[in-house]
Amino acid sequence: MEFSTKCASPVQIKSACAVVGVFEPRKLSTAAAALDRAAKGYLSAIVRGGDMEGKAGTTLLLHHVPNVACDRVLLVGLGPEREFRDRNYREAIAAALRVLNSTGATEATLHLTELAVPRRDGRWRITHATAVAREAVYRFDKMKSKPEGTPPALRRLVLGVRDRGELRRAAAGLEQGLAVAHGVSLARDLGNLPGNVCTPAYLAEQAREVAKRYRMKITVLEREDMEKLGMGALLSVAAGSAQPPKLIVLEHRSGPRSQKPVALVGKGITFDTGGISLKPASEMDEMKFDMCGAASVLGTIKAAAEMKLPVNVVGLIPTSENMPGGRATKPGDIVTTMSGQTVEVLNTDAEGRLILCDALTYAERFEPAAVVDIATLTGACVIALGHVASGLFANDDALARELLAAGELACDRAWRMPLWDEYQEQLKSNFADFANIGGRPAGSVTAACFLARFSRKFKWAHLDIAGTAWKRGKEKGASGRPVPLLTQFLVNRAGRGK
Ligand code: BES
Ligand code: MN
Ligand code: ZN
Repeated sequence: MEFSTKCASPVQIKSACAVVGVFEPRKLSTAAAALDRAAKGYLSAIVRGGDMEGKAGTTLLLHHVPNVACDRVLLVGLGPEREFRDRNYREAIAAALRVLNSTGATEATLHLTELAVPRRDGRWRITHATAVAREAVYRFDKMKSKPEGTPPALRRLVLGVRDRGELRRAAAGLEQGLAVAHGVSLARDLGNLPGNVCTPAYLAEQAREVAKRYRMKITVLEREDMEKLGMGALLSVAAGSAQPPKLIVLEHRSGPRSQKPVALVGKGITFDTGGISLKPASEMDEMKFDMCGAASVLGTIKAAAEMKLPVNVVGLIPTSENMPGGRATKPGDIVTTMSGQTVEVLNTDAEGRLILCDALTYAERFEPAAVVDIATLTGACVIALGHVASGLFANDDALARELLAAGELACDRAWRMPLWDEYQEQLKSNFADFANIGGRPAGSVTAACFLARFSRKFKWAHLDIAGTAWKRGKEKGASGRPVPLLTQFLVNRAGRGK
């Protein structure tokens, strides 16, 4: 789908479909009122007749509205004007796209982007309209023998801009919206691929593709390199698998030479059986999504590269399968991490922290300004925050605030969780420096506490995306989160936010 921006009255634009909003109860938006005046009250009569109350989520498609240049007019219910916020705006756009994709219209002009959203500017509205529209047309049919159904006819989407003075900022919004959408789409594709296709080697290949396309430096560490570096924790997770582990290092360096990089570290378990501490069979298929942290790092770096963001970013992806087997790590085994600290592996299913800890130690060599790791780390985080917010842990308050604010702006929210020393006691081991699990209470906190022991040398934050990286049930599939949050974080760091 092709996107553009335009500043003109809906009466003048000749388009296959004009999309305008109606607030509840029965109040036409500015663009809808302009069409209504041209059509001599045609729309207000429909609204007065009770066919469009303006309830959020409702739509009404009209043909041949008199004196209007467009073939169709799509009315979209917005809910009460006083309650119209970020979420209502995004949902109205998604509802419009659902209808547009089921009509024959090849082109449409979206005037919903001209609606006022409290505390948000024109640039924000365009960014989100673009990202939401792309999300609405996302399909994953790579693994089907033939595509299902007919593809949507919609080819071109014109986004309305309120006044000429806003056109430049709208263009910046469009660029960011497309970059985020492309990053999200890459992350979703990688997440949705099955474990027999998306292996550590496949992730490395995909990272190489990204590196080639945007001329980035890439290094892939192999098992022998990890052995030399003493990455005993990462290697212990890979021990039961026939697939060799990798540590992918991808560098987007478009910032000033002297600027220290942000390091993004993504958990890349391409399938998590639990290892010898085997998981129960039900829903185990969803553990193909255990590499969504890794996918979000690739998606975010792609977005940053596409926008040519003047920042330095290093993506670090430790990737492995977690399998049982004759060579697999056993409960009670003790491993030596790259940091020198020893860990008693009391549960082989707590493997994410084991691959991440060595990647965090490896990150030290980049002298990072900040390190953010992203991981589908704990079922406990799903219990704590459900599928709405990602869990945020940090050893630095300013970094935490920065990430929370980026999440708000990107509508990809995180919620801060504690990382107090009291919780560290749960990791006590009688045999090694500490254990890899801390028992049932506060499971997502003790997992973060484990990682904190490898992050003392830099400002560090951890995003537990176990509840947000994919949707379950009928809509099962990767969400692409938190690519929007991370991209906004980098945009803000690049000083491009305003
Ligand atoms: N990848 C899982 C976490 C997970 C589970 C994410 C379910 C989303 C849904 C992780 O490797 C894991 O197995 N964690 C264990 C840790 C426990 C053994 C301390 C968990 O959460 O049960
Ligand atoms: Mn696990
Ligand atoms: Zn896992």
